Amino acid sequence: MSLLSDKTYEYAEKHTTPDSAALQELIRETHLKTLAPRMLSGHLQGRLLSLLSHLVQPRRILEIGTFTGYSAICLAEGLANDGCIYALEANDELEYIIRKYITETGFDNKIKLLIGNALDIIPSIDETFDLVFIDAGKRDYPAYYDLVIDKVRRGGLIIADNILWSGKVLADKKDTDTQIIDAFNKKIHSDDRVENLLLPLRDGLMIMRKK
Ligand SMILES: C[S@@+](CC[C@H](N)C(=O)[O-])C[C@H]1O[C@@H](n2cnc3c(N)ncnc32)[C@H](O)[C@@H]1O
Repeated sequence: MSLLSDKTYEYAEKHTTPDSAALQELIRETHLKTLAPRMLSGHLQGRLLSLLSHLVQPRRILEIGTFTGYSAICLAEGLANDGCIYALEANDELEYIIRKYITETGFDNKIKLLIGNALDIIPSIDETFDLVFIDAGKRDYPAYYDLVIDKVRRGGLIIADNILWSGKVLADKKDTDTQIIDAFNKKIHSDDRVENLLLPLRDGLMIMRKK
């Protein structure tokens, strides 16, 4: 779901660097073989993730919620030569498609796919991250943030997706998921450890720089 009009979105996509052929194929296969292809970050957001990653040139990235691998591959495009990304995904049925496209895009040595619950896995990763992308279960966003904040270096980025929740954060009466996301946005906005930008692209990205 995008808060931009379809025409504006189409125009923006048309005037944005295209995804690689392999990523376009991944998107096609995700639509054919999964029940919720709308979970994909999508072209504009994918190019933004790739651009931010190229700017940061991270050595260590953490992705929480990989789905079919689209955003992990976009982020991997900007890794430093000796960099790698830990990609965490709970659904083991997606492993074959993630691994297929990690190989097709040549990132076998750069993307470490870990299948399991991110809440269990994150504490076991002994790394300092330059960039973290949070895009898994929305109810756990505050927990993911609390688990990663001390693992991010000063100047590093944390990016959280879907923080407008299809615009429902604006409603007077909010359902439980929306209340949790609204509370997350307020938590980030009042956290002195980060400088934050709520970017209303697509379903909303919260971009945070650790001070
Ligand atoms: C919105 S999709 C991720 C989309 C992906 N980042 C992209 O842009 O293509 C969310 C994914 O998070 C996974 N997920 C949900 N809770 C999780 C958890 N606790 N640990 C790991 N993965 C989780 C889901 O199985 C789902 O595949």
